[in-house]
Amino acid sequence: MRLSIRWKLAAAFFLITATVLMVSNLFILRTLELNYLGAREATHLANANIIALAGREDIVHGDRNAFYLARNFGAQIQARVLILNNNGRVIIDSFDEPWLVGQVLRHPEVVSALAGTSGSGLNKVSDAETVLNVAVPVLKDKQVIGAVMVVVDVADVYLTLDGIRAQMIGVSFLSGLLAALFSLALAGILTRPLNALTRAVRRMESGDLNQRVAATARDELGDLGQAFNSMAVQLESVDRARRDFVANASHELRSPLASVKALVQSLSDGDERNPEVYREYLRDIDSEMDRLNRMVDNLLHLARLEEQSAPLNMENCDVAELVDHVTGLMSTLAATKGITLGKSASGRPNQSLDRDLIIRVLFNLVDNAIRHTPPGGRVTVEAEVGKTTLLFRVRDTGEGIPEEDLPHIFDRFYRADKARSRATGGTGLGLSIVRQAVTRHGGTIEVRSKPGHETTFEIKLPVKH
Ligand SMILES: Nc1ncnc2c1ncn2[C@@H]1O[C@H](COP(=O)(O)OP(=O)(O)OP(=O)(O)O)[C@@H](O)[C@H]1O
Ligand SMILES: [Mg+2]
Repeated sequence: MRLSIRWKLAAAFFLITATVLMVSNLFILRTLELNYLGAREATHLANANIIALAGREDIVHGDRNAFYLARNFGAQIQARVLILNNNGRVIIDSFDEPWLVGQVLRHPEVVSALAGTSGSGLNKVSDAETVLNVAVPVLKDKQVIGAVMVVVDVADVYLTLDGIRAQMIGVSFLSGLLAALFSLALAGILTRPLNALTRAVRRMESGDLNQRVAATARDELGDLGQAFNSMAVQLESVDRARRDFVANASHELRSPLASVKALVQSLSDGDERNPEVYREYLRDIDSEMDRLNRMVDNLLHLARLEEQSAPLNMENCDVAELVDHVTGLMSTLAATKGITLGKSASGRPNQSLDRDLIIRVLFNLVDNAIRHTPPGGRVTVEAEVGKTTLLFRVRDTGEGIPEEDLPHIFDRFYRADKARSRATGGTGLGLSIVRQAVTRHGGTIEVRSKPGHETTFEIKLPVKH
């Protein structure tokens, strides 16, 4: 059965309140009972002692005077007075009921009194009647010659206690009920934001990501609401990025496809006989296909890199050798463009890296640098291994990047100079791959540029010892 938090809380509050009250009431009742009885006991011990003293001389002989004493005094204190000899035999009964006279009593309080110490005890005569027995010794020359026993009805004490108990039960029950009502209201306040959150999550589940909940409370529920809101913002932006990406990718893939289609069409439509023209068209088609290929390759690579669960292939690499390798790969391109390619490496050589990935990173950066540097310029690749960071720096003396483009150059498909970059065959994915690879290594990348003068890319990777 499904029970909402409201009802669970209400039931719990009711039970706790009622139980606590019941227990404390029982304790109070017991204390009251002991108090009442204690007071009675003290009074009647005093009374019994008065009789024992007053009638000391003749009391245990059972004469008429002793009987009157017992009867009158008993009537005054509203109790039954018994006088016993030193065997515990009843000699006088103030109630003048002959059947008791002559009997030997063995109540503990009687035994105690005959031994010289006053005693008292409760005696349940019937369901409705409980009596308090008080017995004191009668002394003569420090000898116990008998005992005086006072028997008093304490039913009134129990009647009073019953009344109090009934009231207490009523109050406990009412308090429990109040606590339950109060907790129902409280639970309402607590569960309202939770219900709102559940509704928002349900709507999100069905695809509407634009969900926010009120999160003003300064408590755990407020925190939960805030966490939910920021998660919703995050999800929305991921969703938007995904849609943008699909749109951009389609757009980017479409342009080479359109060129190829146009080239093929004009080839099949025209009745050209000149093989040179054919060859040129085919070369164009080939280069468009290359571009498409590169783009798809890069996209796949990026997708793999973004797969956080796919592990990096870490191995021990010689950093200087890595730099040599990359500059070696790029030397022909640099030479054809008339650019000087410099390199330097310092610090401990061996580092744990995903070698292929770092080569790809440096390759992309050097490739960009050479492409954006005019003939006669210089491109430098540097590596420095410090105590905590491994630094790669790729510098060029090229055209630079306009300030307004700097925040975007790591975005997918972003090219600072669209027309020219398309012409040079760039996909706009190189730096996205670079940044993703650096991030996967736990590092950061920064770029500085002076348009018209130079550009520097700096990568910092954590050094593991
Ligand atoms: N060293 C640089 N100097 C000047 N501009 C640069 C430099 N590096 C990158 N850029 C600018 O940043 C843009 C994005 O670079 P990215 O490497 O991501 O793409 P791309 O080089 O155009 O394409 P791809 O790398 O796929 O061939 C470039 O188009 C260029 O405008
Ligand atoms: Mg590039």
